[in-house]
Amino acid sequence: MSQPVDLFKKLTSHCKEYGFIYQSSEIYDGLSAVYDYGPYGVELKNNIKQYWWMAMVQMHENIVGIDAAIFMHPKTWKASGHVDAFNDPLVDNKDSKKRYRADQLIEGAMDKMLEKAEKEVEKAKKRFGDSFDETLYRQTNDRVVKYTEQASEANRRMNEALKTGDMAALKALIEELEIADPETGSRNWTDVRMFNLMFNTQLGNIAGEEGKLYLRPETAQGIFVNFLNVQKTTRQKLPFGIAQIGKAFRNEIVARQFIFRMREFEQMEMQFFIKPGTQQEWYDYWKQARLKWHLALGTPAEKLRFHDHENLAHYADAAVDIQFQFPFGFKELEGIHSRTDFDLSSHQDLSNKKLQYFDPETNENYVPYVLETSIGCDRMFLALMSHALQEEVVGDDEGNTRDVLKLHPALAPVKCAVMPLKRNEPALVDKAKAIFNQLKFSFQCQYDDTGSIGKLYRRQDAIGTPYCITVDFETLENDTVTVRERDSMVQERVSIDKVAGIVQERVDMKQLFV
Ligand code: GAP
Repeated sequence: MSQPVDLFKKLTSHCKEYGFIYQSSEIYDGLSAVYDYGPYGVELKNNIKQYWWMAMVQMHENIVGIDAAIFMHPKTWKASGHVDAFNDPLVDNKDSKKRYRADQLIEGAMDKMLEKAEKEVEKAKKRFGDSFDETLYRQTNDRVVKYTEQASEANRRMNEALKTGDMAALKALIEELEIADPETGSRNWTDVRMFNLMFNTQLGNIAGEEGKLYLRPETAQGIFVNFLNVQKTTRQKLPFGIAQIGKAFRNEIVARQFIFRMREFEQMEMQFFIKPGTQQEWYDYWKQARLKWHLALGTPAEKLRFHDHENLAHYADAAVDIQFQFPFGFKELEGIHSRTDFDLSSHQDLSNKKLQYFDPETNENYVPYVLETSIGCDRMFLALMSHALQEEVVGDDEGNTRDVLKLHPALAPVKCAVMPLKRNEPALVDKAKAIFNQLKFSFQCQYDDTGSIGKLYRRQDAIGTPYCITVDFETLENDTVTVRERDSMVQERVSIDKVAGIVQERVDMKQLFV
């Protein structure tokens, strides 16, 4: 899998072919940016959620979970700022009638400038060999300096326009950079305008604005409005957190890149309530804690990086993304936001209900500050799959390859597969089924006799099963089986009563916390 684009194509077709992800309503030609998870997809997704829940709730005495409703009182979204400020800048191409996000078009143009600079550097590297001083070249070569400065100036102007809501300035930038419709090449653009990303629907028994309901664009607000309920019923003292996993909905203007940007997706969010003034300390703490969570899965450190926000969301005084190197480049995987007391104070003002904490140490009442960690479960799924899917040459024969999904065993959809060496030998089949019927009490396990043993191994490799247990003629003599490990393909002969223990040791979620 040489080219990133090829890798991405391969990944999307692998997800479909092996029952991880299907396009929603495919028989009607699909619904754009909405996806269904298949039998292996749902297992992997559940495992991701379990790992997150375990790390955030189970391992922290001062973090508890909730499951709030998707529908909330419409005033929630007024208080949260989403009615007024949850917008993206949108621009239409008059010729192609295609709709784009203005900031993404500009970012695309900036990427091209930086790519040109990189190409110049690469060419020079080849030309000058060992004597090449890359830092000096980047600082002094006219073309490299020009492209880099152009990109940085475009970035500065875009951020300024986004910050001040100056849509005319965004349009001017699109025109100056001569940005064309990526699909048709047309430069015939409409003005840029703001577009609210919330989906809305109507309560059956109330007409007009009064009955307007929104599908939540983030799960966080369900936590904020329940802050006092939870604090009182669990008698938590600051600092403490409330965690939640649930669906969120956004009417994304451009929904591309498979499950990276969806209109219906799932978030895993935690709001950590803290004493005002301690936000920097907790910001640093959660940055490191969340990075550690990703690294424990075996994701190489160089595929993850922090990226500070230049344009802060309306609720944040500081924000950083954990970016992952997806096949289409480094992009946001998770956000860590210092949300101040913005949300609780706004809800307090609009509802006229006190949302304050009585601090027994200082004998004061105050609105806590909030530190948020927020990760998309689907995006995490994509990050894991894009790192795990590998095409490998088996043995010395270049033509003999396998697709293997090297997921951490604790997250693998199926933990072990049991198979008879020959499917038309009743004694082997009976024995294999008996072993499967025992193991299924402990793990997500599969029995398979639908092909030759080589084909069965390949199929389990492709869905990421860490162990294949094969029943052969020796099994009938001495109650031993072979256990094949997915990554090394090494087979070990062990007695049947040891199998469950061997599998358990590696697939246990505890492995992720040592
Ligand atoms: N409560 C804060 C919040 O919602 P966000 O940065 O807008 O912040 C948090 O979203 C995370 O949710 C992102 O880092 C991403 O993983 C995920 N996410 C956001 N929009 C998404 C979309 N359209 N499709 C899939 N995941 C999305």
